[in-house]
Amino acid sequence: MTQRQLGTILITGATGGIGNALALHYAKPGVYLLLHGRNADALKALADNCQAQGADVSTLVMDLRDIPALQQWLAEITVTRLPDLVIANAGININNGINRRGETWQDIEALLDLNVKSTFALVNGLIPAMRKRGSGQLALISSLAAFYGLPITPSYCASKAAIKAYGEALRGWLARDGIHVNVVMPGYIKSGMCDAMPGPKPFLMMPDKAARIIATGLARNQARISFPFPLNLGTWLLAVLPAALSLKIVRLLNYGG
Ligand SMILES: NC(=O)c1ccc[n+]([C@@H]2O[C@H](COP(=O)([O-])OP(=O)(O)OC[C@H]3O[C@@H](n4cnc5c(N)ncnc54)[C@H](OP(=O)(O)O)[C@@H]3O)[C@@H](O)[C@H]2O)c1
Repeated sequence: MTQRQLGTILITGATGGIGNALALHYAKPGVYLLLHGRNADALKALADNCQAQGADVSTLVMDLRDIPALQQWLAEITVTRLPDLVIANAGININNGINRRGETWQDIEALLDLNVKSTFALVNGLIPAMRKRGSGQLALISSLAAFYGLPITPSYCASKAAIKAYGEALRGWLARDGIHVNVVMPGYIKSGMCDAMPGPKPFLMMPDKAARIIATGLARNQARISFPFPLNLGTWLLAVLPAALSLKIVRLLNYGG
């Protein structure tokens, strides 16, 4: 699949580490980028850089937890410029905090509203028009944290497991409609979110490298784009080993909270 065939690409959370790198990766003549973020200044700077690389760009500043506003915008773009590729990337992380404080309900709700509800709403709002057209690609950014619930980040792991399961199910359901669905499961990628995460960060990767790996996987329509390999293998093993043994391993590795 060439960049020219990609046409219109929607990226949410483009003002963050991974979204920014993906936008710059895809910014080329012949590509129309619909870039979303909340930080208007950062979004404008990114849009300028993408335009300088030859892409056409439009931007959207929105808190995606405002589902009615999101749905209204989706209704508009399905008519004006239905994306060819959608990268549902916006997300936040919370953790149990210092001294085993635990997650507050307020934080859990904010995380579920963004990571799960807004992602489902984004995808769900575009599927009917993509089915009608008979083409489209939906990339859902999950995480290797989806394989096994880490005691230090319970809600985050659960939210990413929800995205993984949703994407896998949609891929099977939508294949006959000409729509590709891909679940992306990165390990530790340098970003504001990653910096704020507790626990060790083995095999930390820079966002531009992650963007290249994700784009390659999307071009191949890989069902699951999970990387880097050693961490992918390790986290996958946590999911398939007896749960009691997995828990011992994550405690030994300092993810026990
Ligand atoms: N970095 C990692 O190690 C890692 C690993 C696995 C998976 N991921 C996933 O990759 C995705 C991107 O993460 P990142 O590392 O690039 O994080 P990041 O740098 O913190 O970026 C997060 C993005 O989400 C946006 N966002 C946050 N709250 C929002 C809200 N309420 N409404 C709309 N947008 C909101 C931010 O917008 P503003 O900045 O404009 O507010 C920003 O663009 C996330 O889904 C994350 O779970 C990250």
